[in-house]
Amino acid sequence: MTGIVVLGSTNMDLVAYVAHAPKRGETVTGREFRTIPGGKGANQAVAAARAARSGGDVAMIGAVGSDDFGVRLRQTLVSSGVDTEHLRTAEGPSGTAHIVVDHEGGNAIVVIPGANGTVTSLTPGDEARIAAADSLLLQLELPLTAVLDGAEAARRHGVRTVLTPAPAQPLPPELLAVTDLLVPNEHEAAILAGVADPHIAAEALLLQVPEVVITLGAAGCLYASRETEPFAVPAPRVRAVDTTAAGDTFVGALAVALGEGRPMQQALTWASTAAALCVQRHGASTSMPYRTEIDATETGAS
Ligand code: RIB
Repeated sequence: MTGIVVLGSTNMDLVAYVAHAPKRGETVTGREFRTIPGGKGANQAVAAARAARSGGDVAMIGAVGSDDFGVRLRQTLVSSGVDTEHLRTAEGPSGTAHIVVDHEGGNAIVVIPGANGTVTSLTPGDEARIAAADSLLLQLELPLTAVLDGAEAARRHGVRTVLTPAPAQPLPPELLAVTDLLVPNEHEAAILAGVADPHIAAEALLLQVPEVVITLGAAGCLYASRETEPFAVPAPRVRAVDTTAAGDTFVGALAVALGEGRPMQQALTWASTAAALCVQRHGASTSMPYRTEIDATETGAS
């Protein structure tokens, strides 16, 4: 069984599909509007639960609001098999993400934290749930105090911490000190390391964390650790219609594969396959593949 806990955000994604994203001062007419459950934390939880063997153990710690969005956000997690016992309901609005997706599948996102902003620390129950896991997945859409609390709790209990440093922002050294695996995209890695070249950025980040995976979109990913030589893993060539949550899908599947004891290269290849399936569909929780699809695609059966 793979024990994964996600400490992170839940957002209702309010998505406008357009030919081109509007520039400042411009109004454009879009093609379609959808409300889709998302949020970086919830996305990673859903991706992990779908990638896990049946009966996999994935739990979500965070908060939804007391509005209708909150009901739907919780329901999406539950129906994907995520344990929501530690997902609080906070009085007020749920988090929302206002997303514009263009004709190439690229996106621009504004997040309004809502209920996510109320999660400032862990409860003793949250810590006990983390202590029972193999890995804790973290992102930066909750207040940093909670992210740090969670990572420190995981470290106390010998639980592997996997941090997605998104949305990009400078990080306190004490958070990096309790991070085992850092998974930035190219842009986030450049901000954290102060250098654009991903190879050099990875080397610089290894001064702060023992393992780094830099995701490079269609170019795959780059793995570096203090123990081994760095290596690249290519991504399957696909036509992307919407890249929303591709990074979250990658991390959820990667955590499952590592939890099953797969070697890093194999785990990264499997996670890249999951992300490639995600970008061929629209939305966040609507685009994450199930284990059978990932396996079938990887072996070329579909
Ligand atoms: O990583 C994708 C997610 O970022 C979206 O689902 C949106 O909610 C934003 O948080």
